[in-house]
Amino acid sequence: MKRIKLSPSALACDFGNAATQIAASKEGGAEYLHLDVMDGIFVPNISFGQPVIKSLRKSSDLIFDVHLMITDPIRYIEDFAKAGSDIITIHSEATDDVEAALLKIRALGKKAGLSIKPKTDPKTIIPYLHLCDLVLVMTVEPGFGGQKFMADMLPKVSFLRDYAEANGLDYEISVDGGVAADNARMCVLAGANVLVAGSSVLGKEDIKHAAEELLAAARG
Ligand code: DX5
Ligand code: ZN
Repeated sequence: MKRIKLSPSALACDFGNAATQIAASKEGGAEYLHLDVMDGIFVPNISFGQPVIKSLRKSSDLIFDVHLMITDPIRYIEDFAKAGSDIITIHSEATDDVEAALLKIRALGKKAGLSIKPKTDPKTIIPYLHLCDLVLVMTVEPGFGGQKFMADMLPKVSFLRDYAEANGLDYEISVDGGVAADNARMCVLAGANVLVAGSSVLGKEDIKHAAEELLAAARG
C-alpha cells in the first residue's frame, strides 16, 4: 500500500498569512500543498494563477500539487511548470488531447496528474493511465471549497486502484473535495493515498492540530 500523504488546499488559506499557515500544516505532517487554479470557464469560479504559486514557492518546500481547473490546459503547462509546480494535474474533460497534455507535463520534468469530475466514468481515462503519476478523483463538483463529500465517488477510487494493481501501474490516487477526519479512513480503504483537504485543515483555527488529526484518522 502507498504511503498516506496530506495535501492541504491553499484555497482555504487566508492569503495574507499563507506562508505561516502552510508552514503550520507542514508541522502537522503535510507533505504536499494543493494549489487550485480556476479560470471561470471550466469551473464557475476564479482563484489564482502563476504569480501566487511563484510567490508561495519562495516560502515553502512542500511538494506543489497543482490542480488545473482550466480549459485547454496545454496552453499554460509550461508557465505552471516554471512557477514551481512539482505535480501538474489536468482535467480529462478540459481538453481534446489528454495524451499531449500529459506528455508535455512529463517532458518538462514534472509529475503528470489526471483528474475526473463526479459525473465522469473512470473507464474513459483508461487509455491515459500509463502516462499518469497521479489520478485525482473529485469528491465534489469542482469550483468551490467547503462542499459536502460525495461518498458515492469511492467506487471510482477502488476501480482505479484495482486497475493499477492488475496492470502494473504505479500512480498515486488523490481524493479532493470535502475530505475531513470523519471520511479520510474510508478514502484510504478505497485505495486513495493522497488526501486533499481545504476547509478541514487550512480553514481551521489550529492548522497543525487539524492536519495531525486528519492524518491520524486516515492511518486508522
Ligand atoms: C474544489 C477544489 C478543492 C477544494 C477543496 O474545486 O478542487 O481542492 O479546495 O476544498 P474542501 O476541502 O474545503 O472541500
Ligand atoms: Zn483541487
